[in-house]
Amino acid sequence: MARPAKIAPGDPAPPATLVIFGGAGDLSRRLLTPALVNLTRDGLIGDDLDILVVSRGPDEGIQDQLAEHLDLGDKATKAAWATRRKRIVYFQGEFDDPATYSGLADRLKDAGNIAFYLATAASYFGPVSEALAKVGLLRETDGFRRVVVEKPFGHDLKTARALNKTLLGVMEESQIFRIDHFLGKETVQNIMVARFGNAFLEAVWNNRYIDHVQITAAETVDVGTRGAFYDATGALRDMVPNHLFQILAMVGMEPPNSFGAEAIRNEKAKLLDAVRIPTAGEAKRDAVRGRYTGGTIAGTKVTPYLKAADIAKGSHTETYAALKLMIDSWRWAGVPFYLRTGKAMAARDTEIVIQFKPIALAMFRNADISKIPPNKLIIQIQPNEGIDLHFNAKKPGPVVDTGQVMMDFRYKDAFDLGHRTGYETLLYDVLIGDQALFQRADMVERGWAIVQPILRQWAKDGDPEDYKAGSQGPAGADALMERDGREWHPVD
Ligand code: BG6
Repeated sequence: MARPAKIAPGDPAPPATLVIFGGAGDLSRRLLTPALVNLTRDGLIGDDLDILVVSRGPDEGIQDQLAEHLDLGDKATKAAWATRRKRIVYFQGEFDDPATYSGLADRLKDAGNIAFYLATAASYFGPVSEALAKVGLLRETDGFRRVVVEKPFGHDLKTARALNKTLLGVMEESQIFRIDHFLGKETVQNIMVARFGNAFLEAVWNNRYIDHVQITAAETVDVGTRGAFYDATGALRDMVPNHLFQILAMVGMEPPNSFGAEAIRNEKAKLLDAVRIPTAGEAKRDAVRGRYTGGTIAGTKVTPYLKAADIAKGSHTETYAALKLMIDSWRWAGVPFYLRTGKAMAARDTEIVIQFKPIALAMFRNADISKIPPNKLIIQIQPNEGIDLHFNAKKPGPVVDTGQVMMDFRYKDAFDLGHRTGYETLLYDVLIGDQALFQRADMVERGWAIVQPILRQWAKDGDPEDYKAGSQGPAGADALMERDGREWHPVD
């Protein structure tokens, strides 16, 4: 069929039906519905978007359930919800029952454009896609057919490859939207604008000026009620090949030829391709894992991981991971990238620290070069989104002495951030068919390939190192940095 006319970003999305499998669940209530209401308020989707919630149980008042997390304080949002609410329909069906799909095919026979959002357990991603294909619902004869896949995308390289194979067996890559919700965060998207919209930054963005890069995603939350999922997953799988590698790709990629989806994804894929896959020895030496014990965070006592609900007896699962990676490219040769993530840490702090090289020569009288700290650029992804630049200035007075000072930009001071969930851009992009912020099959597989040697090593290694809840992480992570003569930027 002829492809739908290309929609320019900023135009309202075309009429469509959004079918959400698992649409009565937590993701739908907490994030998708508020995002859809925000898009409606902003005029980016109209009342020609129908929402079909597919769920197993009987309808217990889906409209009210989906309103649970809405903040209807202002008139415009209230009006947007009134529009949205009218277009929500419930469809009861088991995900593994063929009758669900024949029923859907019947219901959707005149729907035109359809996006299927799989907000289900990962084990359903393949089977639901195959079942949709079987009843002809993925054939783009009278409109687009897109499938949005949540994470986790596979459990390792083998399962990710198998899932790609299943999906690509029943649809084209252009129909698959693999979500990485970090890419919906404004500050993550801003990495590209910061780099390629500012001549002074891009000029020093290379191994001549940069000593190393740190990418951190620290959380204060513990495993909470997610024990069963988390214990089978661990910090590395949960955060690194997806979220942290997407940030790594944004920081490290070459300038794309355009802001077009394929141009951006090609550059990201090239960067991931250049990340050196650790040897067994490097996996042992350059990756550290930890597991939180008891402690206190913001006055609240944290239960040790091993005593949390649904954690297997004798579990070896890590709640913290740190690793050093090298990128074999002209731009980054010799610049280590240190990545870390952990639960139950001292603060919620997601950031990128670009540490520049020390100055070559301390020419100020009596100045000790080691006392002039190198410049640091910190891209604060959350909370308190912004960019900080640490630089040196002369302290006032007749004696030449230097001190480190900071210029800081906070998003909220410059722009109206509004209340956004991070899913607005992603949902809008699905509806207008822009895949720039979605993972492509090759990128997902490369991500897994890079961490695979570490997973292999850790499977042999027994217990992770303990760290106290509310701390900076395990001592081994500090040792990883100290060995290289460096230190982590504090999580605070
Ligand atoms: C999810 C992980 O993908 O990202 C969670 O499964 C983690 O374990 C979450 O807490 C972090 O996302 P955010 O947006 O809160 O930083």
